[in-house]
Amino acid sequence: MVEETKELIPVMTSGNNLQNYEEAYASFKWEDAEKEFTWYTTGKVNMAYEAIDRHVDEGRGDKTALLFSDATREESYTFAQMKALSNKFGNVLRSLGIGKGDRVFIFMPRSPELYMSYAGAVKIGAIVGPLFEAFMEAAVKDRLQDAEAVAIVTTPKLKERIPLAELPALKHVILVGSEGELGERELSFEKLMAEASDQLEIEWVDREDGLQLHYTSGSTGKPKGVLHVHNAMIQHLQTGKWVLDLKQDDVYWCTADPGWVTGTVYGMWSPWLNGVTTVIRGGRFSPDDWYQTIEKYRVTVWYSAPTAFRMLMGAGDDLVKKYDLSSLRHVLSVGEPLNAEVVRWGLKVYGKRIHDNWWMTETGGQLISNYPSMEIKPGSMGKPFPGIYAAIVDDQGNELPPYRMGNLAIRAPWPSMMRQIWKNPAKYEEYFRLKPWYISGDSAYKDEDGYFWFQGRVDDVINTSGERVGPFEVESKLVEHPAVAEAGVIGKPDPLRGEIIKAFIALRDGYQPSEELIKDIQEFVKKGLAAHAAPREIEFRDKLPKTRSGKIMRRVLKAWELGLPTGDLSTMED
Ligand code: WT7
Repeated sequence: MVEETKELIPVMTSGNNLQNYEEAYASFKWEDAEKEFTWYTTGKVNMAYEAIDRHVDEGRGDKTALLFSDATREESYTFAQMKALSNKFGNVLRSLGIGKGDRVFIFMPRSPELYMSYAGAVKIGAIVGPLFEAFMEAAVKDRLQDAEAVAIVTTPKLKERIPLAELPALKHVILVGSEGELGERELSFEKLMAEASDQLEIEWVDREDGLQLHYTSGSTGKPKGVLHVHNAMIQHLQTGKWVLDLKQDDVYWCTADPGWVTGTVYGMWSPWLNGVTTVIRGGRFSPDDWYQTIEKYRVTVWYSAPTAFRMLMGAGDDLVKKYDLSSLRHVLSVGEPLNAEVVRWGLKVYGKRIHDNWWMTETGGQLISNYPSMEIKPGSMGKPFPGIYAAIVDDQGNELPPYRMGNLAIRAPWPSMMRQIWKNPAKYEEYFRLKPWYISGDSAYKDEDGYFWFQGRVDDVINTSGERVGPFEVESKLVEHPAVAEAGVIGKPDPLRGEIIKAFIALRDGYQPSEELIKDIQEFVKKGLAAHAAPREIEFRDKLPKTRSGKIMRRVLKAWELGLPTGDLSTMED
């Protein structure tokens, strides 16, 4: 049982989209939310049509869809321009013989080309796999191989990390910004786009046809390909209205990278389905840059993450006063626990409530949220979205009463729920083992007012700065280092990043622990896998705790780290 929290932040803004949560929850039906789509009249649909072309067809073509800037570029695109450019890219892919159901990957830094490619691929019915630009060769290879990608859109710099020899299915490497000679399988994006027509016959698909494939990590095995379908648009449209609280004249900024699900669903689909202008800012995080971005574009709705808010808090209250942030109307956070302290700070310095919400790659859209029309209890993720039934269940699937901790579960299905783990039905079924529940892997409790409170992961998945890292992927890379005999990886609590990655390592004979070796191992993971997956801390041990079958017992490593009892050790060897 947990203690009740009494702190409440009252409703502050009026005139929002969801006036009365309780009423909406009681009467809401997904079927009512979907009446706007072509599917309703023709039986067929396409996400990119609904997000872009529809606005042109309905006379909103001159409205700004995308405001892009980074260190070297500053551009803006209307819905009509995005329609024409994504049409062109759809034609490019078709001319290469690519079509419905084929996997097209996009591996590049945020840029307008990324968004036109994404939408163009969706328009011809391809399934898009976005890859975070920080991925290094091993991470890129695993994902492209698993998905049997046929084409990838990338840049001359990033293509160095694509091991073509090991990717026979990958027929086309489309390079954005190439200069000079093209190599094997390479094509120039600019050249193909210049030649392509801006008129396209859209591939009208079924609601249950594949849309995008986001790779994410579990506690065992390689990253899994989470498949989402066009039907998710129902949830993306509706959560955009009620959680993001989007209105026609909003300027909306989601700070997530499209390599992750927040960056596609809430950086692109949800705002565009709602016909709203989105800001995309390239480059790295810096407090000044972020505040400048809000000031410059007069951002009204801002969706970010706890680590970023904690870093902004660290940058100080005076910095906030240097900028005009008065355009902000609605602020949201997702991806990791949002400390009550940060919520209080946001209220003090921005004069705004930060609205926490909860979802996962697998859920394809927000499921539990704080709404503008609802009181906020700092530290709580809020209440289930109308149309979603969330519960806390025990390991047999029985619902638990308020204040009891257990598995955070959702009654399946819902519109944006994943429909497949790519080529791995057994992994998919694991989530639904306690029917009718989807078991999230998070533990939480619910209070008597129906607010949900996050407590942790029940598995070994690590959440560092809001990025989800599977310990297995890191361990597999670590043991490829010549000095490493065995490695076990855990998340260690960290005040800024939520968790940091810590590796326990047993060295091979002939190697001695040293600061230099630690650096070398860290570099090895950074260069081979991804910077965010490299352990910030490494501790050497003569031996690691293992089961008799040879599996490293991460739970024992975690107990060591936290100075907690190690629990049942009956399965441990000697
Ligand atoms: C995991 C999902 C949310 C989409 C992007 C991340 C954690 C997510 C919250 C929150 C505490 C949260 C959970 C979840 N998480 N939102 N509001 N409070 N924890 O998606 O990479 O699939 O990660 O992030 O542990 O299972 P993801």
